[in-house]
Formats: sequence, C-alpha cells, structure tokens
Amino acid sequence: MNEHLESRWSNLKAIIEERRAVRNFDGSQVDSEDLREILAAALLAPTSSNLQLFRLHVVTSAEGRAAVAEACMNQRAARGAPVLIAVAACPVEGRRSIAEQAEAIAQDGAITPRARRHAEQHLKTIGMLVRFGPVSLLAPLIRTALSIVRCFRPTPDLPFGKSAFRAWTMRNSAFVAQTLMLAAQARGYASCPMEGFDRFRVQRALGLVNEEVWLMIALGRRADDARVERRWRRPFSTLVRVH
Ligand SMILES: Cc1cc2nc3c(=O)[nH]c(=O)nc-3n(C[C@H](O)[C@H](O)[C@H](O)COP(=O)(O)O)c2cc1C
Repeated sequence: MNEHLESRWSNLKAIIEERRAVRNFDGSQVDSEDLREILAAALLAPTSSNLQLFRLHVVTSAEGRAAVAEACMNQRAARGAPVLIAVAACPVEGRRSIAEQAEAIAQDGAITPRARRHAEQHLKTIGMLVRFGPVSLLAPLIRTALSIVRCFRPTPDLPFGKSAFRAWTMRNSAFVAQTLMLAAQARGYASCPMEGFDRFRVQRALGLVNEEVWLMIALGRRADDARVERRWRRPFSTLVRVH
C-alpha cells in the first residue's frame, strides 16, 4: 500500500473503530453546518437502482425531540440527544423517483449516448418493478412466474408483494443510516442507532404519510463520562466464510 492509501485507510479505519453506540451526550448543540455536511454525506449512500426511496427527518426543536423521544420509550440516547433523526422508507415514491432520475439523465450533457440508452433501458425495467412491486394482488402470480423462470436461469428474488417491497426499501435505508453515522463520527459527533421505538407514534409525531420509519438515530457530542459497553464481536472465523 502506498503512503496515500495508507493514510486514507488509517483515517477511515479509525472512524469505523471509534464509532460506538453512544447513549450519553454532552448537552451541546450540533453545529448547523456540521449537521448539513453529515446529512449531505449520508445522501451519497448507495441505493438500489439509485432510487433513493428514503427520507431523513431531522428533529432539533425541544418540543419535537420530546415527542419523538417519548415514542422512543424515552430511552437514554433519545432523551439526551440534541438531534434525533428518523430514517424513513418511502415505498410509494418509486414512480416519482424514476421520473426524476429520467429527467436528470435527459438533462445530463456529459453522458455518452450509449450510457444514456443503457440508463433509460434500466429505468424502464426498474419502472416495472416499482409499478407492480408493491401491488400485493399480482405479487403471488409474479412470484410464481419468477420461480418457474428460476428453474431455467438465474433469477433475482425481486421485491414483489407489499412486505417484500417494504423490506427492500428498508434494506436500502440501512446504507443511508450507516453512512450518516460514519460521517457524524468523522465530523466529531457520536451517534446511537435505535430500533427501540414505536414506529406509529414516531410517524404521528412527525406527521408522516406513506413513510415508514424503520430506524432512529440519536446524534450529538459524546459526553466525557459516556458509558459505552465493552466492545465485543463474534470471532472473524464465525462471521466470515470464504468460499
Ligand atoms: C438496527 C439496530 C438497532 C439498535 N437499537 C438500539 C436501541 O434501540 N437502543 C440502543 O441503545 N442501542 C441500539 N442499537 C445499538 C446496538 O446495541 C450496538 O450497535 C451494538 O451493541 C454494538 O455496539 P457498538 O455499536 O458500540 O459497536 C441498535 C443497533 C442497530 C444496528
């Protein structure tokens, strides 16, 4: 590894290693420029076909935080964080996202004709998925057809059906959440991912329609005396199998 790569690697590795689930914050606010940078970095997370069917709801007001923290069972990280972020999946936004992406491709003067054709074709294919994916009436039919096709050639397990589509949009949001937490760490903040919350109450508190909050993130500066569990991971050889 050359010096440049060595330095990039050690910086990133330090950020990954230092990120911990922190539940005690020091009471200071998150600088608004820092917050913007962290959120903008999170938006660079990868998503399936670049559909970006998620939304980040950032709660900074005292009343908003109190309402959301209550829906998070008033757990420690939620109670004390100056910023709470709801990572929501928007399963019904597929068609809109495709239209926006098609528009962006049309406006892109730098794209080669070949890449444009490829992108347009891909959007058409993915358009079928977002149109029919969440339609639960057709889902069993499509799944059966796919399993027959699978006997003859490799066929991906496409997210047809409401719950499969929902799992798919949620899976996508996970990348956004992790990118956000690493960006926060790199910018000097601590975070705690939280699934211990009442999704429906959080959604109500934030006035969300057609969005499903699947993860909450508490964000703030780590308190000097923050209690963090001893780091424990299962053995490498258990979790990593080389084939
Ligand atoms: C999906 C998910 C949900 C979690 N939910 C909570 C939670 O509700 N409350 C909490 O205090 N920590 C929560 N955590 C944090 C984990 O307990 C923590 O990541 C784990 O113990 C490993 O510790 P580390 O993140 O410090 O390495 C959650 C983590 C993940 C990934």
